[in-house]
Amino acid sequence: MNANLEQIKQEIIAGADELHSSKEVYEFRKKYLDGKTGKIGLLMKEMKNIPNDQKAEYGKGVNELKVWALEFIGGLDEKMKAKELQDRYESERIDISLPAEKTEQGNLHPITLIRNQLIDVFAGMGFEIFEGTEIETDYYNFTALNTPQDHPARDMQDTFYLSPEFLLRTQTSAGQIHVMENKKPPIKILSPGKVFRSDDDATHSPMFTQMEGLVVDKGITLCDLQGMLDVFVSKIYGEGTKTRLRPSYFPFTEPSVEVDCSCFECGGQGCKLCKGTGWIEILGAGVVNKKVLENCGIDSDEYSGLAFGIGIERTAMLKYGINNIKLLFESDVRVLKQLND
Ligand code: DAH
Repeated sequence: MNANLEQIKQEIIAGADELHSSKEVYEFRKKYLDGKTGKIGLLMKEMKNIPNDQKAEYGKGVNELKVWALEFIGGLDEKMKAKELQDRYESERIDISLPAEKTEQGNLHPITLIRNQLIDVFAGMGFEIFEGTEIETDYYNFTALNTPQDHPARDMQDTFYLSPEFLLRTQTSAGQIHVMENKKPPIKILSPGKVFRSDDDATHSPMFTQMEGLVVDKGITLCDLQGMLDVFVSKIYGEGTKTRLRPSYFPFTEPSVEVDCSCFECGGQGCKLCKGTGWIEILGAGVVNKKVLENCGIDSDEYSGLAFGIGIERTAMLKYGINNIKLLFESDVRVLKQLND
């Protein structure tokens, strides 16, 4: 009998080497110690078949084996659980000294940013947005703007013609006519959009973006124009930036002006950006030519208007100090990142 007990003990010791998880230890424990089905449990049940005079010794032996097995397997269980916990710690370990993974963030393109800023500034002064079409007729782009077929001012803008009648608009000024034909004064619109000219060098591109402004009402003068543009330059180029008007020529305005702003780089002292003059040319503008009002059926004795055309790329180039317009169209992320900083 003792030999049998010893055999079970050895079996348990040998079996322990095969165990790899606490779950296996649990099954192993059941196999030997389960009250009804375990090998040691069954030995207890054998008691009734043991002759009376051997019962005491048999019971003692089985009991000793049971106590030993409980402790031995309990120890195994403890060790296995400790190892499993350690493994889990290892596998879930986080190295908090590692640099965080970089997430790239997208941004609006500088042209879109400037466009939105301009819209914000002028919307604050009560302007509404009118978006014209990129394909225009010769009439809206030129003729109605007081630039008939043989007018020399047409040479100021090299045009992409699609047919004798249709063309890619060379200026957002074309939108002025559509608005004035369809709306009675007072008019206060802002018209952003792409324009096209056969022109290509460091500061010109065949496609660029303009923002047209038009105000038509009773008693509108150049003073109103300058007042609005002063707000515009101080919001875009910084507080304290001022404008000055110089005489110029555009067929659709009379008088016409070229608008400069005080150099926001040097504050007017003279620097590389303003070529030592203290002033930077930023846009064309003027009082709407009476002929243009009349072309749209607006009584020019009763109403007057002002108009201006802002080049958005030029505004961005000045603001960000870019000397080549192509940088704004190449979408080189390294460049765009700098412009968004
Ligand atoms: N259309 C002109 C251009 O593209 C810019 C311009 C000048 C617009 C004077 C105006 C204006 O509305 O009054 O060069």
